[in-house]
Parts: sequence; C-alpha cells; structure tokens
Amino acid sequence: MNSEWYMDAVIYALHVKTFFDGNGDGIGDFAGLTLKLDYLASLGVTCLWLLPFCESPLRDDGYDVAHYERVDPRYGSLADFRRFLDAAHARGLRVVTELVLNHTSDAHPWFQAARRAPAGSSKRNFYVWSDTDRRYAGARVIFRDAETSNWAWDPIARAYYWHRFFSHQPDLNFDNPRVRRAVIKVMRFWLDAGVDGLRLDAVSHLYEREGTSCDNLPETHEYLRELRRIVDGHYGDRVLIAEVNQSPAVTRSYFGEGDECHICFHFPLVPRILAALRRGEASGIADVVRTTADVPAGCQWAVFLRNHDDVSLSAETAAERDFLLASYAPDSRMRLNQGIRRRLAPLVGNDRRRIELAFALLFSLPGTPVIYYGDEIGMGDNVALPDRDGLRTPMQWTADATGGFTTGAVSPIVPPPIDDPEFGYQTVNVAAQSLGDGARDDASASRRASLGASIARMIHTRRKHRAFGRGTIEFLDVRNPHLLAFVRRTADESILVVANLSDAVQLVACDGLPPVERHLAPAAGEPAGTDANGSISMQPISCQWFEISSLRSLTPA
Ligand code: BGC
Repeated sequence: MNSEWYMDAVIYALHVKTFFDGNGDGIGDFAGLTLKLDYLASLGVTCLWLLPFCESPLRDDGYDVAHYERVDPRYGSLADFRRFLDAAHARGLRVVTELVLNHTSDAHPWFQAARRAPAGSSKRNFYVWSDTDRRYAGARVIFRDAETSNWAWDPIARAYYWHRFFSHQPDLNFDNPRVRRAVIKVMRFWLDAGVDGLRLDAVSHLYEREGTSCDNLPETHEYLRELRRIVDGHYGDRVLIAEVNQSPAVTRSYFGEGDECHICFHFPLVPRILAALRRGEASGIADVVRTTADVPAGCQWAVFLRNHDDVSLSAETAAERDFLLASYAPDSRMRLNQGIRRRLAPLVGNDRRRIELAFALLFSLPGTPVIYYGDEIGMGDNVALPDRDGLRTPMQWTADATGGFTTGAVSPIVPPPIDDPEFGYQTVNVAAQSLGDGARDDASASRRASLGASIARMIHTRRKHRAFGRGTIEFLDVRNPHLLAFVRRTADESILVVANLSDAVQLVACDGLPPVERHLAPAAGEPAGTDANGSISMQPISCQWFEISSLRSLTPA
C-alpha cells in the first residue's frame, strides 16, 4: 500500500451533473461518468475529485446538501455510485468526494426540525440562532454580491440563524456535540463506502466567537485533529483536504503539525500565476512558493489554475486586485464577489502558449496538481449565465449537438453547452483532440498537435519523475525578471525547470548551468535551442524540463 499516494497524484475535478449523461435525460450521471473513465485514464490523471452529488435543491450546485447519505437521484443511486467507484479503482484511479460540513441546505431535515424545535433544545441548536442580527459582527460576508449579512430571519423559529454563504445555507453549530458526532457519522459513511479522501468544504468557518473574524478558531483545529485521528485509526491511506481560501500562513495552519489535513488547496498561488503571465515577470510566483515551501512531513499542497468557483482575490492587496481585475475581467459580467468568474482559456486570451505554460508550471511547482474538467481541452465560459454557472457548462466531447454530452435535450438544471464561435463544442471538443499515446516520451508533431495531447504528455512525463511530487525546490538566481528557474530534487533525481514568461526570446547562459543530462521534451511551447555561444535560448512563453546531474547556480546571458 502506498500510504502517501496523494503526493504523486494528478487530480481531476468534475461535477457528475455536467460530465456525461448515460441515460439520455439531459443530466450527467454516474453511469455516464463510468463510461468516460477510459478517457480520464488516458489523460493520465490518477485521482478524481467529485464536486457535490448528494441530494440537494441545487441552489448552490450541491453545496446545499439536503441529505448527506443519499446520492441525488438525478445522478443515479448509491449502487450506481458504488459501481462507478469500483470501476475507477479497477483502473487505478482514486476518488475524492466532498464533505460539506460547515452548512446544510435549509431543506435539510435537520434544519426543518431545528426551526420547529423549542428554543434552547438540542434539536434547535443544530444551527446557530440569535434574537438579534448584531452578533459576530467581525465576520466578513463572503458572497457579498448576494448577501448583506451573515444572519437571516426565520419566520418559523422567530429567530435569526447564522449563514456564512447563501441565506439558504444555514451553518451547523459545532458547539453542539450532537452536530460534531453527526458530521463524523457522515464522514465515516463515505469512507466506509470506499472513497479515498474527502474535501472539507469551507472548513475555516466552523465555529463562531464574539470579537473574532469567526474564521480559523482554535476549536476548528481541535475538531480537525479529531477527524484526523479517526482517519488514521480506521481508514489507513485516506486523505483529508482543506478548502481554506486565505493567506499562505493561515492556510498552512490547516496542516497542523501533520495532524490535521493531509492536503490544503494553495489558493494564493493562482493570482500570482495570473499576474506573472500578464506582467511577463516571475518573481511573484517564486515569492509565494518560497513562503509556503515548508510543510510538515506527509503534507502536500494542492495546486490549481482554475476551479468551479471564481478566481478569488479576497486575500490580495487593493492594488493587486485592481490590476488583476483590470487585466482579466474588463467586463463587469466577468466579476463576482471581488473575484473573476472565468475559465483558464478565455482568461489568457485563448493563447495556446499561455495555457500550456500555465499547465507546465502547475505540473512542476511543489504540490499535487488539480485540473478543472475541460481546461485540458481549452473549454470556454459563458459570462451571460448567473453566478458561477458560466464556468460549469457540460463537458464538450464531440462536435455533435450538445457537444455529445447527452443524446437528449440538456436539462434546465444543467447550464447550456458553450456554442460560441471560438469556444463552442463544434470547435473545442475531446474528439477533435485525440490524446495520442501520452505515455510515450517522444513528442512527435502529430502527438503534440492538440492542446489535450500536450497536457496528457506533460502529465505522463510528470508521473515518471517523483521529484515533481516529492522533491524539494531551489530557485536559481537567473537575474532575468522574465525567467523562472528552479530545481526539483529528491535523493535520486534532479529536474531543472526553466520558464520564460515574456513575449521575447530570453537567453540563459550555459556558463554555470547545471550539466543537463536529458531534455525531458518541452513542457510547454517550442523546444529550447542553443545559440552560437552555447547559451540556452528560451522561446517566448515557454517552459522546459531537464534532468540534471548536479546543481550550480545559473547565470543569465
Ligand atoms: C465551494 C463553493 C460553495 C461554497 C459554499 C465553497 O467553498 O467551493 O462552490 O458555493 O463553498 O458551500
């Protein structure tokens, strides 16, 4: 058993509702997802992260759970889920699911019982109630485009209830021991069902205390240690993943001393990569990676470019937020809650070089990479749709009607497929991007022809080198602001990564360069060349991976 499998994993995030419809009712389902496992295996990913699929009114795409132990019947049954899980495991794919523990839907039976139970009773106290909406004023409103307060009035209970997200998502009251036990029961239900890990949604907001921001309280960490003890004691190699969208230091605290979460999402990296791509300068990436390089043994960042939410800019300085909004969200419809609700390809102007460069960095910086479904083929978004629906459209499989997502009509609960001239399924689809045999090293022109093939090749290359998942990182002083150069190193191998973020060729002098043993093919962009003096010339917007034998410092040309 490889108990630290997640260190070398490549994760692929998807929503079953929008991936593939197996029964023609216009809604993605587990039967459909099971049919697409071969695609995912050939892409090379090793772990699937399923966005929420439990019974839900779907007012927050399933993050409003109405029953924690039931699969939403629109996606199939628990038996269908189990069949999918077995099929994924049979292909060596791990599966991580959601534990949305901070809140439920207001349709959840716990809330329906709570609002009718006597004030002060344990049933009522499954949630957080108040006679006034003035308590906990230090907690920020997260969905500020939709909500003005973290309190909402319930006419049945005749009291206010606390909610950190939408008002239809009341927060569970973790001061109530019955709630803590109920969440543990849910966690064990899914671990017993065989999932390989759980993403703990919005886990920094579990407790409320007057005079604080109600985030990251010591009680939250204590509860996480309790969950971790159960995982370690009963579930071997399963993992807990923290979704904490805050500064590097705060996010890092969710590893604890190696006794809380195994994995934390690295939110601060995303804006740094976007800023670097826009400015053509690398220093922001190196700075944030340096400040987060040191994590307890057995812990790992999950790095990503895009996910199912907006690019959050809430932890940015005002100046940096303005720069990123002006650069990447010039149309106000691209903005949401201070963030940017766009997919990767449209963010970078559908520039193939920039997409590949972003992925090459994702696959070579420290952490386990997470790919958002469809980004590997360059899917677009639809800013006309509300909330985050525009980046949650159906996966584009073929040029046929609905992008091959369904043989029926797309259900109204599924955002319509993208069909604009640039990103529509007629142009951007899996069938048009044959992945080829990404497992092979050789980067022949045909194999590299499509974006999908190129991403698959990077994934397969990464998987052959444990230094990417487990190695230390040392940045090299190249004294050229456009170049990012670093070495990923384990006891057995060292890999030199050089990225050119600028629109011009940049030379890296060979003098002082660590002796290159083998070029692992261009990670992104055109191959590197050498000039008459033996300097490596990096093509504009490109990234190269080299195996090296020893480390000396690089000097610029
Ligand atoms: C999820 C969002 C969701 C929110 C409330 C977030 O962390 O990623 O999609 O809206 O939690 O559940």
